[in-house]
Amino acid sequence: MSVPYFEFFAPVKILAGNRALEHISYELSSLSASRPLLVTDPGVRKAGLVEPVARALSEGGTPFVATFEDVPADSSTKVVAACARVYRDNRCDAIVAVGGGSVIDTSKGANILVSEGGDDVHRYLGAGALKRALRPFFVIPTTAGTGSEVTIAAVIADPDRGVKLAFTSPYLLPHAAIVDPRMTLTLPPFLTAATAMDALTHATEAYIGLAKNPISDAYATTAIAKIVQALPRVLARPLDEEARFDLALGATIAGVAFSSSMTSLVHALGHQLGAVCHLHHGVCMGLLLPYALEYNLAARSVEIGELLLPLEGPEAYARVMSGDRPRAAIASIRKLRDMLHAKVGLPRTLSETGKVQRDQLPRLAKMALDDGALAFNPVAVGHADALSVLERAWA
Ligand SMILES: [Fe+2]
Repeated sequence: MSVPYFEFFAPVKILAGNRALEHISYELSSLSASRPLLVTDPGVRKAGLVEPVARALSEGGTPFVATFEDVPADSSTKVVAACARVYRDNRCDAIVAVGGGSVIDTSKGANILVSEGGDDVHRYLGAGALKRALRPFFVIPTTAGTGSEVTIAAVIADPDRGVKLAFTSPYLLPHAAIVDPRMTLTLPPFLTAATAMDALTHATEAYIGLAKNPISDAYATTAIAKIVQALPRVLARPLDEEARFDLALGATIAGVAFSSSMTSLVHALGHQLGAVCHLHHGVCMGLLLPYALEYNLAARSVEIGELLLPLEGPEAYARVMSGDRPRAAIASIRKLRDMLHAKVGLPRTLSETGKVQRDQLPRLAKMALDDGALAFNPVAVGHADALSVLERAWA
């Protein structure tokens, strides 16, 4: 058998740990930028997370010259265009995104427009439409989940057509991702748990998907161990900086894994639940993950069994016979899911969310078949298969 071909590409500089924010001005200067635009949302502002960033940039001699704060939970092409206008009106020369997935993806879209010109981001839709570097771009995540600070992708809604648009290009990668423990300290427990399950799903799907490779495997397993160890510590002591940092770093490492190895069935189904039923992305991930693993069990039993090591640690792993490890790994994820339900009320099933009607499931399954993530699932998925996973996740 020939050696399989793969690609791994992860060039984002990561500024992580104590006082990481204070290093951004140096990075801006090294790219000859001095007029950054802040992109954020009202929730981040209200949580007091803009101040430490603004202070760090002012002290570094590169204060924000403008702010775009109107990013909604699900960003859109209109928001992207409005953000680009603020950048141009204020003659900015860099973007600093402070927020979760929506803020980061809005910033990626706005960076396309301010770098390439025009107001229509549709022209750059799909993979590889960008041909040159964009403006200096820095991302400070305030959730430990999306991983968008290190990925080549942006997802932006088109409100006129009611669809989500996907953009992928290496030029969408930020110049640096800043993982500072101060930035996730105040994230509420429910969102902490939901976004952590998103990160856990990124790492898990990267590890079992068709594009897996030995380098992304190393990132995926490191991420899983960090996330499952840090999450209970964070929920027990939300202001524990070390635990918050471990969880945030785990999410970023998971982002590196799936930016190269992609996601699969959980995301293909979850995207539809988000678009149609407006379920939180992380909630979808947490409740679908065990069922998608069961669906893929026959094809990926070795890999799923290997996940028991980062999930439960070496002693527990050694106690379980190798043939029992795949089921034990899935049971470990179920145990985590049940703990999160008991502690913060994270729904365990689709019916528990209260936002999904059972008769919507066939349509959701049909929509998932057109999702790009499905191409990386280790087993082919037809309509009946996607529907059976949703039915199992129902109750
Ligand atoms: Fe995700």
